[in-house]
Amino acid sequence: MKVAQFSSTGKAENVIESIEVPNLPDPDNNEVLIDVLACPINPADLLTIEGGYGVKPNLPARLGAECIGKVVKVGSSVQGFKKGDIVLPLDRENWVQQKLVTQDNLILLPSNIDINQLSMLKVNPATAYLMLNKYVNLKTGDWIIQDAANSGVGQSIIRLAKIKGIKTINIVRRKELTQELKNIGADIVLQDSKDLAEEVKDLTNGADVKLAIDAIGGDIILRLGNCLADESTILNYGLLSGKNIEISAYQTVFKRLLLTGFWLSPWLQKMERAEIFKMYHYLAELISKNSLYVPVEKTYNLDDIKMAVKHSSNYSRSGKIIITPNG
Ligand SMILES: NC(=O)c1ccc[n+]([C@@H]2O[C@H](COP(=O)([O-])OP(=O)(O)OC[C@H]3O[C@@H](n4cnc5c(N)ncnc54)[C@H](OP(=O)(O)O)[C@@H]3O)[C@@H](O)[C@H]2O)c1
Repeated sequence: MKVAQFSSTGKAENVIESIEVPNLPDPDNNEVLIDVLACPINPADLLTIEGGYGVKPNLPARLGAECIGKVVKVGSSVQGFKKGDIVLPLDRENWVQQKLVTQDNLILLPSNIDINQLSMLKVNPATAYLMLNKYVNLKTGDWIIQDAANSGVGQSIIRLAKIKGIKTINIVRRKELTQELKNIGADIVLQDSKDLAEEVKDLTNGADVKLAIDAIGGDIILRLGNCLADESTILNYGLLSGKNIEISAYQTVFKRLLLTGFWLSPWLQKMERAEIFKMYHYLAELISKNSLYVPVEKTYNLDDIKMAVKHSSNYSRSGKIIITPNG
């Protein structure tokens, strides 16, 4: 079978390759053998290949934070799964044609949902859901602000916030995305500028903005901070600019803003299994109703992994790049 692997860190398209490895054995008692149907390429995957992610794998390493799979064979003591079931593995190393997963690391999903959309369930919708629900007690009518608002996470935030009646101010770097984001529920769409706080004040009639969600880092944090009410929270979950966060003493001391970070990985390690399952079933149901949806620009098979990772790092994509290891 084929797997994607990298043997040294560097620019993704230079170091990643699709290689042939021996087929997997039959599953152990508590294991399930699955065909991987689809896996999105996320910025974190690229960061892992470049050596900048929070976890440094031993090389050579496989990768892929998420996928969706179909059950091929189940171990003798496995219950609740059968051949043909659609499943979400909670573990990593998903850019492979087949994998063995222990049954407690698998979530059974309905089989009538778009596979590409389901393949993006584990990371971005869960990130959006947890950031909206676990940090600030947001009530209907409250305002939040976010940047990189057209990203997969950003679009999930817009849609999940709309469902909860939370209003969103969305910063994008391409003005032409305004209507598209409004169509999925964004209340305000703006471009970053030195006058951001004044624009936000005007457009919200001076409403208190209680949470800023940032994937970029660098000096945009200063401008997001200026949009916030006193004692609000800035939640940083990405480093797209590659720059360190800038925040002023005025913001930390006099506005008493709280700056913290979000990483999905420790959340999934510390949450009770029942809560994880409940969250993913809720999010999968939203996907089934198209209430959560992220556009896909192109799918690639595993042989074209170099082209796929190169494409995924392009500026101004219209959607996600997805690998379909079994065609
Ligand atoms: N902490 C966590 O647990 C966690 C979990 C999931 C995702 N993330 C992070 O969330 C971010 C978004 O991920 P995603 O999968 O949703 O992304 P995505 O759908 O692949 O989209 C990438 C987005 O980043 C924007 N972008 C790229 N470089 C930028 C820059 N220098 N300045 C401003 N915007 C930039 C792109 O804007 P254009 O469309 O204009 O090119 C696009 O909106 C990434 O940083 C990712 O690592 C973190």
